Amino acid sequence: MIDLKGKSAIVTGATRGIGLEIAKVLAENGAGVAILDIQLGDESSVKEVSALGVQCKGYACDVSNPETVEAVFKQVLADFGKIDILVNNAGITRDNLMIRMKQEDFDSVLNVNLRSAFICTKAIAQHFMRNRGGRIINMASINGIRTQAGQANYAASKAGIIGLTKSNAMELSARGITVNAIAPGFIKTAMTEKLPPEAIAKYKEAIPLKDLGNPRDVANAVAFLASDEAGYITGQVLGVDGGLGA
Ligand SMILES: NC(=O)c1ccc[n+]([C@@H]2O[C@H](COP(=O)([O-])OP(=O)(O)OC[C@H]3O[C@@H](n4cnc5c(N)ncnc54)[C@H](O)[C@@H]3O)[C@@H](O)[C@H]2O)c1
Repeated sequence: MIDLKGKSAIVTGATRGIGLEIAKVLAENGAGVAILDIQLGDESSVKEVSALGVQCKGYACDVSNPETVEAVFKQVLADFGKIDILVNNAGITRDNLMIRMKQEDFDSVLNVNLRSAFICTKAIAQHFMRNRGGRIINMASINGIRTQAGQANYAASKAGIIGLTKSNAMELSARGITVNAIAPGFIKTAMTEKLPPEAIAKYKEAIPLKDLGNPRDVANAVAFLASDEAGYITGQVLGVDGGLGA
């Protein structure tokens, strides 16, 4: 049984979509949650998670900016005392065919999806090493494994996340820290709402389980990887994709 009581997590990109669901599922299992997002909005995500009876606080943070991350992580550690779980979830898309893709659209996707995971992992690594334990879960994508036209930036960022996950797992394992990635397929969020209905119908047909996934499917996998039960799993990429990546 997953029990995260007494543990605290940082979840990036957690005011909506998959990140918010991760924050909620971690909280339902007893963990306190620091919600980091570039936009906190009306803090409804913080209210929703706090209502589950755990410590929860929101922090406005552009996770691709190392100085901001350093300052915010310092504040999170002061507020929570100890952090046990880091979920690098924040991500964006700027799809276009490679020949039409603007340099800034390549750079911003790499910065938010990949550079941020390096920055946030560096910002928490020493805390985890001192505690001789910790869980890092990085959000990859099926598009980092098998991809499609129009996603040179996104596919490169998610393939990069997989490499980063494996290398960090090797470096941090001696201190009892695990690093894993989750590779969702197509999940019902604002990110996939942008897709035309014909594309959604095509994906549903191609997915062995014949439907898009829900944010909760991904969040449940994160809660497992964050738990004591997953202590012997590191450097892995777990597909949550209805069988699409099989
Ligand atoms: N939805 C899918 O089908 C799908 C599939 C595979 C992987 N993913 C990955 O899952 C993660 C979450 O996706 P989602 O569908 O929930 O997306 P979403 O667009 O609904 O949410 C992304 C969140 O990240 C935040 N964010 C963006 N830039 C940020 C920055 N610089 N700093 C901090 N926060 C920032 C946004 O404000 C937003 O709250 C992403 O990494 C995405 O690539 C999603």
